[in-house]
Amino acid sequence: MSDLIFASDRTVENNVHAPKCPLPAPNSWYVLCFSEELKPEQIINRTLAGNALVLYRTESGQAMAINAHCPHLGAHFNAGGKVIGENIQCPYHEFRFDTQGDCVHTPYEGCKPPPGAKNRVWQLREHNGMVFVWYHCEGAEPDWEVPNLQDDEYPRVKFKSFVVRSHPQEFNENAVDSGHLYAIHMYDNTKTLEPVTLEGPLLSARYGLQRRKGLFGAESPYAEFKTHLWGQGFNYQLSTVPQYNLFARTHVLATPTEDGFMMIHLAVSLKPLDNPEKIHPLLRLLPKAWVHKLVWAGYMKEMEADLKQDFPMWQNKTYLDKPALAKGDGPVALYRKWSKQFYHHTATENKKAA
Ligand code: FES
Ligand SMILES: [Fe+2]
Repeated sequence: MSDLIFASDRTVENNVHAPKCPLPAPNSWYVLCFSEELKPEQIINRTLAGNALVLYRTESGQAMAINAHCPHLGAHFNAGGKVIGENIQCPYHEFRFDTQGDCVHTPYEGCKPPPGAKNRVWQLREHNGMVFVWYHCEGAEPDWEVPNLQDDEYPRVKFKSFVVRSHPQEFNENAVDSGHLYAIHMYDNTKTLEPVTLEGPLLSARYGLQRRKGLFGAESPYAEFKTHLWGQGFNYQLSTVPQYNLFARTHVLATPTEDGFMMIHLAVSLKPLDNPEKIHPLLRLLPKAWVHKLVWAGYMKEMEADLKQDFPMWQNKTYLDKPALAKGDGPVALYRKWSKQFYHHTATENKKAA
C-alpha cells in the first residue's frame, strides 16, 4: 500500500511519511469561521498556527477571538463557559472577561480581579459573512487590512470546508502555476489576459481558459478568472463565463491549523443570472429563485471537483526551495518572491526589506 493520502471533508488520514513543508505559518489574515457558524452567545473552538482559540459572539453581536485557556488557572473556555452580555465567563471558577480581555468579575466576595488575569484578544474583522483573525509570529499588530467586498450584487457566500495536510504558501502557489491547469484540471487554451501585478500584500492576475472537450466531444464554455491574493489567507477570484453571462466570486482559503495541516474553505457567491436559458433552455420554465439555487449548487460542485483534484498533489509533495522552473510554469518565481514578505518578523523589518 502506498503512502499517498487523500483529503475528504473535515477529515484527513494522517500520514507520518509525507514530507512536511519547512516554512513557518505566514503572517496574514485568515478566515477562522463564517458568520453564520457563530451564532449569538455561542462559543466555538479553532486552532490557528498551533494556537488554541475560542471564538464567540457577544450579546450585542460583536465577534471575538481569544486564547482558549483562561489566564486564571488554565481552564478551557469552551468546556462549559458562557457568554454573558458582552463578557465571557470561564466555567472553572466563573471569572468573567470583557472584550479587551480584562477580568472584570470574580464570584469571590470582596475579591477584585487579580491584575495578571488578562486574556489575549486576537485582532478580528468580519466582512462578507467571513470572520478573519490576524496571525503574526511575534504577535505584532496588522499592518494591512483585508478588503470589504460587501455589495448588493453578490449574495452572501455558500461554503464548504476541508482539512488538508499542506501549507498556505504551497496551496496558494496554485493561483500562478498555470502549467498544472492542463495536467490536473484538464483546462486548455490557457491565456494570460493580465500578467501578475504586485502591490504590497496583494497579488493579482487575470487568465482565460477552457476545459478540454468533455464526453462525446461536447464543447465546454470559455471562462475568465481575475485572481486576487491578499496575503496567504484570503483570496477571491472574479469568474466570468461570457457564454452564459455568469459572474461568480470564488474564495479558496487556506488557514494553517496544527503543524503541517491546514483548513481549506471553498466559498462561492453567484450573481443572479439574467438569462439562465443560455445554460439550458428548460431553465426558463423554473422560478428564478430555484434556478439561482440550482446553478449556484452546480457551480460550487464544479469548483469542489477542481479543488479535490489538487489534494493528492498538496498532501504528498515536498517543498523545494530551489525548484527547477521551466518557461511554461507561470510566474512561480515571482510569487515566491512576493510571499517572502509574510515571513519577516515585524512591519519595520518588512519595510527595510522592501
Ligand atoms: S481557570 Fe478560569 S476562572 Fe479559574
Ligand atoms: Fe489547482
